[in-house]
Amino acid sequence: MAERLKVHVDPDKCQGHARCKALAPELFELDEYGNAHEAGDGTVPPGLEDKAWLAKSNCPEIAIDVIEE
Ligand code: F3S
Repeated sequence: MAERLKVHVDPDKCQGHARCKALAPELFELDEYGNAHEAGDGTVPPGLEDKAWLAKSNCPEIAIDVIEE
């Protein structure tokens, strides 16, 4: 069975670079200050796993965690 992934943004680290939103718009939302949080409960829909890892590796603040469940 394929692993399930969740994304999580650490609000203390996020500085609003928005690369996550550009790379994986399905997985992240931006608030009115431009800071990101995970969409919904952070569950990564099937097929979007690569985008989750891409967003994590492209966040300059290392604010994104990808959790394997
Ligand atoms: Fe924040 Fe990193 Fe996205 S700084 S807006 S989580 S790219």
